[in-house]
Amino acid sequence: MAKIILTGDRPTGRLHLGHYVGSLKRRVDLQNSGEFDDIFIMIADAQALTDNADNPEKVRQNIIEVALDYLSVGLDPAKSTLFIQSQLPQLCELSFYYMNLVTVSRLQRNPTVKSEIQMRNFEASIPVGFFTYPISQAADITAFMATIVPVGEDQLPMLEQTKEIVRKFNQVYGDTLIEPDILLPDNKACLRLPGTDGKAKMSKSLGNCIYLSDSEEDVRKKVMSMYTDPDHIRVQDPGRIEGNCVFTYLDAFCKPEHFEKYLPDYENLDALKEHYKRGGLGDVKVKKFLNAVLQEELAPIRARRKELEKDIPAVYRILKEGSEKAYAVAEGTLRKVKEAMKINYFDDAELIAEQAKKYQEQ
Ligand code: TRP
Repeated sequence: MAKIILTGDRPTGRLHLGHYVGSLKRRVDLQNSGEFDDIFIMIADAQALTDNADNPEKVRQNIIEVALDYLSVGLDPAKSTLFIQSQLPQLCELSFYYMNLVTVSRLQRNPTVKSEIQMRNFEASIPVGFFTYPISQAADITAFMATIVPVGEDQLPMLEQTKEIVRKFNQVYGDTLIEPDILLPDNKACLRLPGTDGKAKMSKSLGNCIYLSDSEEDVRKKVMSMYTDPDHIRVQDPGRIEGNCVFTYLDAFCKPEHFEKYLPDYENLDALKEHYKRGGLGDVKVKKFLNAVLQEELAPIRARRKELEKDIPAVYRILKEGSEKAYAVAEGTLRKVKEAMKINYFDDAELIAEQAKKYQEQ
């Protein structure tokens, strides 16, 4: 079986470190592993509109931001197909047929949808499009016969929903679709990177993000004002590691060689943590180290972005070509789906002959 990746992001803002460690970095590694037959990376503008229907301009403006972020972290259009969801009508068609295979109560039980409804205060006035986006996500994934979907942990319920739809479709209409597997980050800190304020998740609306496109100075400021241990007041006080986001970020980003380079007094992260817990290690020193680690990771990304920004029409051309390629693939799947559902009347010579015979006999 071909190994195919599909994944994507809603274009509602620039991408941040949470996206980076939760999914982007992994995608680049997978892309460069050469192990995959095809890789599709989707800018999910249609999905973004399900909760931004009144603000299409926001979605429109952020397409290029997400594309620039993709390319600057190292997604390569020669190896990965970058495309825009709304340019593929096949995804709407598939969603429409899959809707018959999902119950309202099943959608209501989706934990991600539930928490998003709360977050957006939708409660009594949930847009139908938003409510059904897990179904459209199943269309996104199955349209490419994806076998692997590298995403953040919050997308687990979407993948469960997709698997159920695939099983149900294959059971009702015969083996057609492929059940995908989710690929989560293996590092615990990367699974759910907290915001710089220590809140559960990096989120644009909370203003606690470090963006991939932030300037060196912005990153430094954000790191220096990060939430640590509120009880660690004087340097000599013992400090807590749990819930201290400077250490969570180090768990996510720091490599052994960073110590040799920036903090040679410590052998590794465990030694640094031990000293912090014991007391005698100040937040500023740890933050300066984290800043050095992050700047090293972000500098090449920022530099590539600067280059790409010089030729924006070229970035749109990449998206257009990617969308054309993705369109052809999704069209192939839609044809198979319609054949399985027996709604391909004009290609069905048997049906036409059968009907003709029936009427001749009358
Ligand atoms: N729901 C994803 C997000 O919020 C975006 C997305 C849409 C997606 N369709 C997808 C991700 C299919 C993986 C596979 O970022």
